Amino acid sequence: MKIIQALNYEQLSKLAGEVIATQVNEKTNSLLGLATGSTPTKTYQVLADLYNAGKVDFSQVKSVNLDEYVGIEQNHSQSYFTYMNENFFSHVNIDTANTHLPNGNVDDLQTECKNYETLINRLGGIDLQLLGVGHNGHIGFNEPANAFPEATHVVKLDDRTIKANARFFESEADVPKYAVTMGIGTILKAKKILMLVTGEDKADILYKTLTLEPTPEVQSTALQFHKDVTIIADEKALTKIKELNPELLK
Ligand code: F6R
Repeated sequence: MKIIQALNYEQLSKLAGEVIATQVNEKTNSLLGLATGSTPTKTYQVLADLYNAGKVDFSQVKSVNLDEYVGIEQNHSQSYFTYMNENFFSHVNIDTANTHLPNGNVDDLQTECKNYETLINRLGGIDLQLLGVGHNGHIGFNEPANAFPEATHVVKLDDRTIKANARFFESEADVPKYAVTMGIGTILKAKKILMLVTGEDKADILYKTLTLEPTPEVQSTALQFHKDVTIIADEKALTKIKELNPELLK
């Protein structure tokens, strides 16, 4: 895995935006795998700035998001559908017909999961998958488990994830308990992976991601199986690696 060190969140976001823009400039009809959460918000702003400066064109780009909550309307203020429109899609010239998220608000979630997996394959597979990481190592919403989930599936969210995401809802009780997420197998099929890690509270999980033997108890360790992973991490997220295993950064 390649680790790029950023001084802070600002620089991390700038670097991440440049990696994604380069991908789009090299392959104009790229299929981007996208993430939500607080980590990539500024990356999306950087991409919007690059678009406004004429440095990247999203007109041919297609996208698939990692995950979506179950049981809230697509246009709920905290759905990932709304997040993507507000943070990214409405600021660039992507055709929203080419943007896809799993729909967590359907009766037949199993069929939705199967169809989502088929869709990703039909679109030619993900060229670049953007990831954040949860404190428990989840990527997408693949929570600690006794196996690495293969395909898109419904998952019960961890208590820690619900607590962490309560900041976006009126109360913890309002956070959905389930989500639809790409599986680890889906994520690992992406041609390239770009993971962003910011802040001291992620230093421990970043360290584990890189140093533990791959274990489904820390799903992000599955990234060790992929041959083209770039991690952009800021100084604070790198503190534990610098302290215990600085040679990883060489
Ligand atoms: C978001 C996602 C999650 C987040 C993770 C970190 O689509 O799949 O894995 O990347 O929960 O969230 P933040 O960035 O809010 O710390």
